[in-house]
Amino acid sequence: MSAEKVKVTVAVTGGIAAYKAVEVVRQLQDAGFDPHVVMTRAAEEFVRPLTFSAITGHKVITSLWGEDAGASGGEFSGIEHIDAAQTTAALIVVPATAGILAKFANGIADDFLSTMYLATNAPVIVAPAMNVVMWQHPAVQFNLATLRARGVRIVEPGAGYLACGMVGGGRLAEESSIVAAVAEALSHSQPAANDLAGETVLVTAGGTREPIDPVRFIGNRSSGKMGYALAADAARRGARVIVVSAPTALKAPEGCKVVPVTTAEEMRAATLEHLPEASIVIMAAAVSDYRVAEVAPQKLKRNGARTLKLEPTADILHELVERRRPGTLVVGFAAETEDVLANGRAKLARKGVDALVVNDVSGTGTGFDSDRNAGTFLTPDGAIDLPASTKAVMAGRIVDRIVGLRTGSPQTSRA
Ligand code: CTP
Repeated sequence: MSAEKVKVTVAVTGGIAAYKAVEVVRQLQDAGFDPHVVMTRAAEEFVRPLTFSAITGHKVITSLWGEDAGASGGEFSGIEHIDAAQTTAALIVVPATAGILAKFANGIADDFLSTMYLATNAPVIVAPAMNVVMWQHPAVQFNLATLRARGVRIVEPGAGYLACGMVGGGRLAEESSIVAAVAEALSHSQPAANDLAGETVLVTAGGTREPIDPVRFIGNRSSGKMGYALAADAARRGARVIVVSAPTALKAPEGCKVVPVTTAEEMRAATLEHLPEASIVIMAAAVSDYRVAEVAPQKLKRNGARTLKLEPTADILHELVERRRPGTLVVGFAAETEDVLANGRAKLARKGVDALVVNDVSGTGTGFDSDRNAGTFLTPDGAIDLPASTKAVMAGRIVDRIVGLRTGSPQTSRA
């Protein structure tokens, strides 16, 4: 997906979490969007419009009857809420109070935001935040159900410490999850380049599980989000996509065939089976390097110290490179915690892949089990920075590079 300078509207309503909208605006800019801000009267009690106009470089709209509403320089210049509603690619309400949810659900249009909501055809994303008792109130839940049924995307609040001193549900979702929801919503509404038409892309995703006994396994922290984002992006760009997926909590990416597997050996068998059809392979899965040599047939009982004997699994990526048809591109991933680029370069050569996406997974906030990622796209003759972004945006950038490899266009080199 290309998210370069797409105009989106962040609407801030009057809750304690209003200050967190500042970080959401900043992260949207990081992801390549051009956020404009609308504030309700109550929101201004928590954050000043100046904060948002300074960050965005745009005027903040605070009223239906503002100085620019309707007239400019004495001439009628259009109706501002209609104009704002029709020129935005998405309307994101952060935080969404119980009040605005009720207005949206019932079509009450008595201020700029509630009027804009009725006037837009763009995807609407709401991130509610309120006291836990309010959040659980049937009236609030009824309004949410109405909005959900109408296609509004709800970024569910999390549980935690609330400003009112209570602990429970109603805490604004993580800023990165809100930005990921925006990127996801827009990836469906933007026309794709169709630059992978005719290609069959085989993607592996998720973290494999190696059984210890019938109830336990050795796993890893991969969520599958990066692999699924790549699969969805490739499908939107016209490719036929097969996803060999280790267990994840995600819903299947749209337009893709999903082949579920559990262990490294099952992943190996499924990828080798589909390899002959593939023209591009993206190995985003976190594959266990070891498995338990003898899996216990019954649940192991607690019985003092225990040693598990591990044996290596097959290196699937290496095998794919050896067995591919001529012309099939193979792209690997590398998760590194130290000497990231040097280790990435060595791995690129050792695995014999066409490109390697190297992630630094030592920090928090990007990489494993996160909505965001950052890394470097390494080829034998170049290195391209993949700046921190949502995984949906990063997937678009990686697929752009893969299309570049396919069409033989030079990869900008900085190494
Ligand atoms: N990979 C694979 N089969 C394995 C292990 C990893 O195909 N048994 C793939 C991964 O899907 C990824 C790439 O190899 O695309 C690199 O994975 P990584 O864990 O970074 O590398 P390893 O080969 O395991 O090397 P090391 O553990 O020494 O860093």
